[in-house]
Amino acid sequence: MKFPTRPVVLGLLALGFSALILSRAQAGGGHYYPPVADSVVKEECGSCHLAFPPSMLPASSWKRMMGELDKHFGDDASVDPEAARKITAYLVANAGDTGGQRYGGKLLRGVDPATAPQRITTLPKWVREHREVQDWEWRHKDVRSKANCTACHADAELGYYED
Ligand code: HEC
Ligand code: HEC
Repeated sequence: MKFPTRPVVLGLLALGFSALILSRAQAGGGHYYPPVADSVVKEECGSCHLAFPPSMLPASSWKRMMGELDKHFGDDASVDPEAARKITAYLVANAGDTGGQRYGGKLLRGVDPATAPQRITTLPKWVREHREVQDWEWRHKDVRSKANCTACHADAELGYYED
């Protein structure tokens, strides 16, 4: 009987990317970053991308970001003033150097709040945690952006980033 090469290859391709990334991500130590629990924040900040956990940035970054939502990484993410006030209050209260300190501490190590970036993906600790991810993996059609956390971290919505 002839060996069925074609189905095997297709199977491997289908397995390939996620299995590779997941097995590698699972090797890391697990840390919990509480997901956004406020419905307004979830709605306004979770429509274009994952509603990022407030503990991943210091309060100063969130304040700066909320002050220039009309120029948000090339997008206009403006909300009405009432919603903006609520969202800012929530993010600032749960930031990595305020209420979310016990969760965000690790990611914010060595970060000066005065000069902290607005991107989680440029925090030195984030960069270090992802140093083994290859260029082709970032460019993969299922990923495309470093900010697309859920492509590799299936449980990001639940606050877990080890897989
Ligand atoms: C291309 C896949 C990929 C993307 C996209 C990605 N990560 Fe990761 N992430 C990984 C891998 C692989 C590791 C390494 C885990 C290890 O070293 O064992 C990791 C590790 C981490 C860790 C450390 C593990 C822990 O539990 O402390 C955190 C936190 C994390 N990622 C957060 C994020 C966030 C937030 C985003 C989006 C802004 C993101 N990642 C996007 C693949 C990815
Ligand atoms: C209209 C779409 C849109 C809305 C709404 C939106 N964002 Fe964004 N956001 C973006 C885009 C686009 C990026 C850049 C993504 C990339 O680099 O791939 C981004 C990036 C980010 C990043 C940086 C991710 C990284 O690279 O570490 C943070 C943090 C962030 N947004 C927070 C928020 C918050 C907080 C809100 C709610 C007030 C919000 N976003 C609402 C479009 C949006």
